[in-house]
Formats: sequence, C-alpha cells, structure tokens
Amino acid sequence: MTEVKDARLTVDGSTIELEIERASIGNDGLSVSNLLRDTGLVTVDPGFTNTASCESAITYIDGDQGVLRYRGYPIEQLAEHSTFLEVAYLLIRGELPTESELTAFNHRVARHMHVHEGIKTFLGAFPRDAHPMAVLSGALSALSTFYPESVGRGEYEIELATVQLLAKTAVVISYLQRRVTGGELIEPRPGGHYVDEFMRVAFSGPDGELDIDPIVRRALDLLLILHADHEQNCSTSTVRIVGSSQANIYASVSAGIGALSGPLHGGANEAALRMFDHIKESGDTVEQFVAKVKDKSEGARLMGFGHRVYKSFDPRGTVVKRIADQVLDQLGGNNETFDMAKRLEEIALSDDYFIERKLYPNVDFYTGLLYSAMKFPVPIFTPLFALGRMPGWIAHYREMMHDPKTKIGRPRQIYTGVVERDYVPMDQR
Ligand code: CMC
Repeated sequence: MTEVKDARLTVDGSTIELEIERASIGNDGLSVSNLLRDTGLVTVDPGFTNTASCESAITYIDGDQGVLRYRGYPIEQLAEHSTFLEVAYLLIRGELPTESELTAFNHRVARHMHVHEGIKTFLGAFPRDAHPMAVLSGALSALSTFYPESVGRGEYEIELATVQLLAKTAVVISYLQRRVTGGELIEPRPGGHYVDEFMRVAFSGPDGELDIDPIVRRALDLLLILHADHEQNCSTSTVRIVGSSQANIYASVSAGIGALSGPLHGGANEAALRMFDHIKESGDTVEQFVAKVKDKSEGARLMGFGHRVYKSFDPRGTVVKRIADQVLDQLGGNNETFDMAKRLEEIALSDDYFIERKLYPNVDFYTGLLYSAMKFPVPIFTPLFALGRMPGWIAHYREMMHDPKTKIGRPRQIYTGVVERDYVPMDQR
C-alpha cells in the first residue's frame, strides 16, 4: 500500500486540508473531527465500515491477508505455545510475562475464583431456561454491587476489577451451565488451574470430582486464546462506548455481553450449530440449503460465514477446523454433522455468490461442533466466547481510560424526520 502524503477536501469551492493519522502498520486514518466546524458537514458511515473510532496498540488484523496479531505476536504462535491466562496478561499488560509474573498472575486469578452468596441467589432467580447470555450480562453488572472496593478508575480498583472479572466470569459461566444441566452449584477450589477449575465446576457431579481429558483441556484453552481479542468489533466497541461515559468496567463489559449475544456476532456459534440441525431436520440437501441462502427470499444466511474485516480467510477459523478434526477424531463427536459442515464449506467456497462477496468460514463455523463434542450444552456456546473475549474487553477499557484523546462516544446523525409541527390536542386527532 502506498503511503498517502496529504489529503484535501473541496466543499463548495473551498478546499480544506485533512490531517492524516499514521498507523504503525495497516491503514492510516483521515481525521475528520474538524469537518463540521470547517464545512457544516458531518460524515456518514452506517455500520462504521470505514471509521476508526480510536488509536489502539492491542490487536492488529490484516483482513486481506488473514493476519491476526495480539500485541504483535501472530495468533498461530500464541495458539501453539501459549496459555489463555498468559495471553490475557499479554493483552492487558502489553508484554509477555516472565515466569514469576505469570505464576503470580495465575495465583491471583485463582484466588478470586469464588462468588458472593448473593450472586448465586441472583443466578437462581432466573428461570432455568433463561438464555445464559442474558443472565451473564446481568450478573457481571451486578458484580460491581458485591465488590464495591473494585469499582472506580484508580489503579488499585482497575487492577482488582481485572482479576475479579477474569476469575468470576469463569465461575458464573460454569454455574450457568449447571443451571442448564440441572446440577446443584458446587464451590470452586481457590488455587486451582483456571481451565481445570472452570471445567470441574461446570461438569463435575455432586462429589465435585472430574477427570479432565487433556485433549479437552488443551482444546478449550486454545479456543479461549483464539477468542481473546479482535480489535474494534461490535462488542468491544460497545465496551468502549459505554466506558467512554466513565461508566465502571463491570457496566461496560455487561453491555459488551449484550452486543456479543447477537447471531451476527458471538451468537453465531450457537446459530451455526442450530443451522446444521435445521438442515438435517428439514430434509434439504446441502445444495438446496445453499440455494436458499443465495436466493435470500427466506432470509437464511450461512451462519459462521463472512466477516466485516476478513476478506480471504479467518486465521482463527483455520485453527478451529484443525482442532475440530483432531478432537472429533479422538473423542468421537458428531461426525455426521462435521462431514455435513465440511461439505457446506466446500460448496460455498466454490460458488460464485460467496466468491464474489469474499465470504469465507469464520471462527464460529466449526466452534459449535467442537463445543458439542466437548459436551458443552448449546446455550453455553456464546458464554464461552464471552469468557475468551473478557481479556480483550478489559484491555480495551484500560487502554481507553489511559488515552488522553478519549472523549465520550457520541455519533451524529442525518435527521430525516418532520421539520416542525404544532402539538395537536387529543380530541382533534
Ligand atoms: N451468508 C449469506 N450471505 C452473506 C453472508 C452469509 N453469512 N454474509 C454476508 N452475506 C452477503 C450479504 O447478503 C451481502 O450481499 P449483497 O451484496 O447481495 O447485499 C454481502 O454478503 C455483504 O454482506 P454484509 O452483511 O453487508 O457484510 P457485513 O460486513 O455488514 O457483515 C457479517 C458481516 C459477519 C455480519 C456477515 O457476514 C454475517 O451475517 N455472517 C453470518 C453471521 C456470522 O457468522 N457472524 C460471525 C462473525 S465472526 C465472529 C465475530 O467476531 O463476531
């Protein structure tokens, strides 16, 4: 990409110079903050397809090349060598930890893996069939009321809230799983390994014991790494915009959970699995389903396909497919559905509709199958995405808080309503 040297905009014969903000890699930005003042115009960009809302040093994506790096480290290397909590440390603090720093961080998170009795009562107040994402959003916001000492924007409070969120989100999600499966809530054992403890609290019987399959443990750790951050996606932008009002971090991530729950975002992992089931139940062939998607008349989308940023492949999807291959092979998952998904992918990738629109499988296409093979109930799929994304949300909140350029998020609009009219009394309408 050649570097743009300068940029000018001519409006009604007057030319103004626009400042260019330089990126260390990737697209530079055209600063339009003074456009309204200088021209009376606002910029229009529905869905923010061309708008950078901030500077960030956390995650870099090159959507054309299928590149994803956390703090400069390629996702493939982190997936191969790292662990989820090490990646969380990297995202939040900016550097990989030394051995002693990581040990201290792991211990600190592990020590906070318990929740106030009031949170358990809160979880128990929802119907058993409530969607866990709705309950999770409420529970994370409610954490601020149970741990007021961690609420605030000082260094101490933010450090404590960081650890509380990493630790307690895991416990809350494992409790939500027990609510889905009908089990009694059991106590986490402070000091345990993060992923092991999450799985033990989610899956063990009443005696609290669980033999964790190392394949499942590693697969889950890896999936959490792959989801840990993705720069200014819908939920992270939500966390930032809520946090920009100086709302506390719990309120901000709680809003992020709401954004993540949608089927076009994190909810796509659940939607993709339901789509596979729907195809099987409908009796349609994969070809017939693809034809319906292309036809658009029934509003069907190929869930787990397409991405705003990735236009060649989603590097996370590539890793997920590889793990799915291994895990389903070793654990014996639903191979029939896996074969159908692979066939669906194959057909879509050779079809002009998908080729022209640059639609490729994203991270969510195979994760549902993988979670199913690991015995997670379907409603827990999107909470698992949330657990993985938590370090990213925390890192962005903290970055935003320390950025002197941060202003309250407040977009403009193009008003298209009635210009002005007089109030009509009720008896004259
Ligand atoms: N199936 C069928 N057609 C699609 C799909 C799809 N999955 N995705 C996009 N299109 C079509 C869309 O209909 C449009 O066609 P046309 O030009 O004829 O109007 C064109 O491709 C461009 O789509 P768009 O909706 O303008 O693209 P977007 O960048 O606004 O949306 C997306 C991105 C991810 C929301 C979309 O691709 C989608 O809905 N995918 C399915 C849901 C999904 O898998 N979401 C998970 C995303 S990855 C995890 C995460 O980080 O959230």
